[in-house]
Amino acid sequence: MTTNSKKTLIIPSIPQVIVPPHPQWPPLSAAEFWALKERIKTLLKRQNAVLVAHYYTDGALQDLAEETGGCVADSLEMARFGTTHPAETLVVAGVRFMGETSKILNNEKRVLMPDLGATCSLDEGCPYALFASFCDQHPNHTVVVYANTSAEVKARSDWVVTSGIALPIVRHLADQGEKILWAPDKHLGHYVQKQTGAEMIFWPGSCVVHEEFRAVALERLRKLHPNAAILVHPESPEAVIAQADVVGSTTALINAVSTLPNMEFIVATDKGIFNKMRQVAPGKILLEAPTVGEGATCQSCANCPWMGMNSLHNLVDVLETGKNEILVSPELAGKAKIPIRRMLDFAARMKKQQISVGVGQKG
Ligand code: 13P
Ligand code: SF4
Repeated sequence: MTTNSKKTLIIPSIPQVIVPPHPQWPPLSAAEFWALKERIKTLLKRQNAVLVAHYYTDGALQDLAEETGGCVADSLEMARFGTTHPAETLVVAGVRFMGETSKILNNEKRVLMPDLGATCSLDEGCPYALFASFCDQHPNHTVVVYANTSAEVKARSDWVVTSGIALPIVRHLADQGEKILWAPDKHLGHYVQKQTGAEMIFWPGSCVVHEEFRAVALERLRKLHPNAAILVHPESPEAVIAQADVVGSTTALINAVSTLPNMEFIVATDKGIFNKMRQVAPGKILLEAPTVGEGATCQSCANCPWMGMNSLHNLVDVLETGKNEILVSPELAGKAKIPIRRMLDFAARMKKQQISVGVGQKG
């Protein structure tokens, strides 16, 4: 543990996260690709299963989810979708916290994932024991955690939020005079604090993928493309967010590509999102925000290695074998469900009131 300049606030030293190499999957011929997809479609139907995929996963998985009546979405909508769909099995193509959230909300359903090792640097950088001790030191704070956390961490929280709903929830808490302990993503936390003026303390975590976006190189790219709108996920560093025209969840960034009049966009988030962006705005030019500074080599290169652990290959395998089931004890699920439900109920109330969530236009 190290102490910051205020002396009263103890900032936890968090474990270093090892970034795995991006998985390489065997190439498929057109005929093999088609046959694999057909086999998965048959298995999904036979097992009364539905595929729920995140926008960062391989484009083939995203397309397959939509073709089979599943969904491709941000983490808020992925959580919501599972609670409303009648399928007995949810197959979650994404990272582990997404599968766990589905299981917590739908304990009676079977939840499978293509790879149980698909974690998330934010989740890994927020181990329960360290986090619980941080919370214990600040008992007069409302604990708000990002969805990118373990079931145990969620169970220790008062509220769970995703990037799509963090702003209105924190604003609501701040309006009630609550002080907030925020974990684990410090960049998203600082962005939320700046937008809401809430009194907050932060867990010092960050996403290894978004952490690599480079502000100086982005400035240079902007000069080369003066008419491009800059779209930034709020897990990015402050100096990158400061250049954004739109800051928001993956859904908000996709909506921006289809609704803004610009023909060019510079996108600072995982490049898996380009699959959906190209679908919603086929004529528009999409540029990747730069991830490397001079002389540096990117580790993730805007491509989350854990999201990359999902493929048609291991998807067919879990459907055939039933392996990789997500299990959360009913007791833990019961505790973790409370703050997740609070978020979903809040989102439902907002939707009813026709308030748009998730987009932070610069200003
Ligand atoms: P969204 O909720 O915006 O999809 O973000 C999830 C995530 O893991 C971003 O890195
Ligand atoms: Fe986690 Fe970052 Fe990957 Fe999102 S992109 S799943 S925050 S490591």
